[in-house]
Amino acid sequence: MHSTTPPLSNSRRPSLASRRPSMDPAKLIPMGRADALVGTNQFNVVFVGAGNIMFGSDEGPWNHSFRFEHKLGPRLKVVALIDPSIERATAVLQKKCESFVVSAYQDTRVFKSFEDFLKNMNPRDKPRAVVIGSPPMFRGTDQPGRDLELQILNALPGVALFVEKPVATGPEDEIPQAFAIAKKIDQSNTICSVGYMLRYLRAVQMMKRILEENNLTVMSTVARYACAYEAIAKPDWWDKSRSAGPIIEQGTHFCDLSRYFGGEVDISSVQAHSLEWDEEAGQLSKMSIDESKIAPENRIPRVTAATWKYESGAVGSFTHLVALQGQNYSCEFEVYADGYSLKLVNPYVQPVLYIRKPGDDNETTMRFADDDPFFSEISSWIDVIEDVDEEAGSQILCTYEDAVMTYELTWAIRKASERSRIFKKREIQA
Ligand SMILES: NC(=O)c1ccc[n+]([C@@H]2O[C@H](COP(=O)([O-])OP(=O)(O)OC[C@H]3O[C@@H](n4cnc5c(N)ncnc54)[C@H](O)[C@@H]3O)[C@@H](O)[C@H]2O)c1
Repeated sequence: MHSTTPPLSNSRRPSLASRRPSMDPAKLIPMGRADALVGTNQFNVVFVGAGNIMFGSDEGPWNHSFRFEHKLGPRLKVVALIDPSIERATAVLQKKCESFVVSAYQDTRVFKSFEDFLKNMNPRDKPRAVVIGSPPMFRGTDQPGRDLELQILNALPGVALFVEKPVATGPEDEIPQAFAIAKKIDQSNTICSVGYMLRYLRAVQMMKRILEENNLTVMSTVARYACAYEAIAKPDWWDKSRSAGPIIEQGTHFCDLSRYFGGEVDISSVQAHSLEWDEEAGQLSKMSIDESKIAPENRIPRVTAATWKYESGAVGSFTHLVALQGQNYSCEFEVYADGYSLKLVNPYVQPVLYIRKPGDDNETTMRFADDDPFFSEISSWIDVIEDVDEEAGSQILCTYEDAVMTYELTWAIRKASERSRIFKKREIQA
């Protein structure tokens, strides 16, 4: 029997992407205007990793501890800081204890590992939440020593998790292990958020709102991420065997944004090309590391350009470039739907949104001053933990499972570009 219902026109069909959670952009309050959460009960947190994401660096605006201090005020108690580098952990704590936020850190204990913390945990120090900012190579699997999420779920059921992106950087064949962790997190009803903070930009939520209010289906996402390579002095970043490469480590934010708007990706459709370090066009004159110390097979591509199909039929594309000098990156993300283009420019520094709508060939421009997506993601996660989410309109915008899907996409792009390279080499040799 066939249905007599006419097929829905594209713009009427519910978009896959619209099933992803979104927030009212007006509820994303800048940190300077947000009051610390009222209440008297202390909020115990364990920080895993004493590095840049947790305590800040000159490389960017990230610094989770700073956002926690603003969100929780005197209620914040960092009961433990876990890092195998005791020296680094002690040094950052020392600085905090010399500042006005001393009350959050004066009783913080330092441990080399999560096991050590558990063995020595005082019952009154039981955390309400754990923030995971250790390198992704030490997590996201069920292998001993790289199974932090599972250790936490087993030892501290009910404790909320915040996990930095990417969820892992192990070999591609370990991706199913990350999906299994996602399932355990979901089945145990653990509150868990993953640090794809661009989803929390007011500009991004405005884009979502425009799509939802106009019942639009995304036709295409076009992402471009050009980093300022001169400013990247971390040798690991240039070494695929240590960082998994720039798409999995860095481009992941834009692959995630693409999925946030485009919906699920048909992974088998992913195609990609790369410009490699040993090709004429791939020579860089201002690298701040010595690439000769990195094995040739682990050197990173200078350009990776990928396309794919979303399950909705829409088409996604992403170009990652290691090409610019100086300090500032050049990043743009576009979404197209029937009659509309939404173009987000400079999302990391000064987000600007260019909107074209039916009835006007000119773009209108929206700027978003004082936006802090790092604060919004932490703030929303804490609101959900504290169950004030309804009133505040807060939501967790990236679940662990969603983040594993982004991780899977980034691996697919890397593999597709490597395959195309092998194919090209064979062609040259033949
Ligand atoms: N969202 C963003 O924009 C953003 C920005 C920066 C970093 N990050 C992410 O944060 C994570 C950490 O990056 P980072 O820049 O802070 O790195 P980092 O190298 O500055 O710090 C990592 C810290 O983790 C410690 N460490 C190593 N193994 C550990 C283990 N098993 N358990 C606990 N600690 C361990 C190291 O000693 C180091 O102090 C990465 O996943 C990175 O991608 C995200």
